[in-house]
Amino acid sequence: MKAVKITEKVWWVGAIDWGLKEFHGYTTHRGSTYNAFLVLADKITLIDTVKAPFKQEMYSRIESVIGDITKIDIIVSDHAEMDHSGALPEVIEEVKPSAVYASTMGVKALDAHFRIADKLTAVKTGDSVDLGNMQLQFVETRMLHWPDSMFAYLTGEKVLFSQDGFGMHLATEKIWADENYWPDMEREMAKYYANILLPYAPQAIKLLEVFPSLNLDIDVIAPDHGPCWRGELLTKPLELYAKWAAQKPTKKAVVFFDTMWHSTEKMAMEISDGIRAAGADVRVMPLEAYNRSDVVAEILDAGAIVVGSPTINNEMYPRTADVLTYIKGLRPQNKIGAAFGSFGWSGESVARINEYLTAMKVELVHPGLKIKYIPGKEDLEQCFEMGKAIGEKLVALASE
Ligand code: FEO
Repeated sequence: MKAVKITEKVWWVGAIDWGLKEFHGYTTHRGSTYNAFLVLADKITLIDTVKAPFKQEMYSRIESVIGDITKIDIIVSDHAEMDHSGALPEVIEEVKPSAVYASTMGVKALDAHFRIADKLTAVKTGDSVDLGNMQLQFVETRMLHWPDSMFAYLTGEKVLFSQDGFGMHLATEKIWADENYWPDMEREMAKYYANILLPYAPQAIKLLEVFPSLNLDIDVIAPDHGPCWRGELLTKPLELYAKWAAQKPTKKAVVFFDTMWHSTEKMAMEISDGIRAAGADVRVMPLEAYNRSDVVAEILDAGAIVVGSPTINNEMYPRTADVLTYIKGLRPQNKIGAAFGSFGWSGESVARINEYLTAMKVELVHPGLKIKYIPGKEDLEQCFEMGKAIGEKLVALASE
């Protein structure tokens, strides 16, 4: 397999995982790439590696440029998660580099994974490594999205290696963002941000604030997943991150629900009609069709989370609990919401959903709507009114 030229001295030598469908609970409908980069400096340098089963693919791309992997002098690990470090222990054994650099937390994380601290050298923000005819400068980006995460900037070629930051799960052989179909990329990048980076919005905002003061003259942003950024699209990922990190309420509601005998579904449709009648937008997501990571991707730019579940054995549906547990961990901000559901004899689901929404600091627009068995005309009118109240509040918040 061949490497792809990024700049005169930088080659993409990563792997394409066309078949990846799941990434720790996140559905990756479009596969992914594990990007690694070869820097043809006086000291040949490998930036990150790949998931363990893809090591040979990376080697074949490296060999297409330099013939022999042992010509690599330096390895940098910008992120210790195993989609980038899985191949690292064997690569170190087989390449025998003169040095392997990682952040201070990266050394600890890689050692806790592979017991290789003796082979690693820690670097911190402001440190640089001399590659002979160019330098690598490091910027720690703690909790974006792991404690060890860092960026590496290559002088001369003006490439910022940003590990998971500004990346997306999108399998493509087209290495540049401007060669790919923009709507696919924006959707996958938003999904990546929502599922991976959403809890770390304060860190993202802080990084974006200090970014200009780093005075990095950047021509290329090269993340560890998906396409690289250049030219007119170079600032696009920064703009999108600023928007997503702010989590400003929009007039969009996400209505997600499970249903047993279609009663909660009927409620969901009527609530959605009420939201629309108030002039707001609705994304309806039956959990029969969507999983947790699809729902979170829609919640990223939504102002309301509206959740429905029937009661089963004194609890909400397991799928609803799955999605709520996942969303709670991702800590979305600035949302309003409400719960609803049909029940037979006890009806605990609405109270259970409210516990989650309250724990997430979602402002409840309604105490929650419970309907016994099958909703009748008056019940459906109540659903519509609840939706209308949510929609009116959304429109008011979005115009502030
Ligand atoms: Fe792509 Fe956090 O690993």
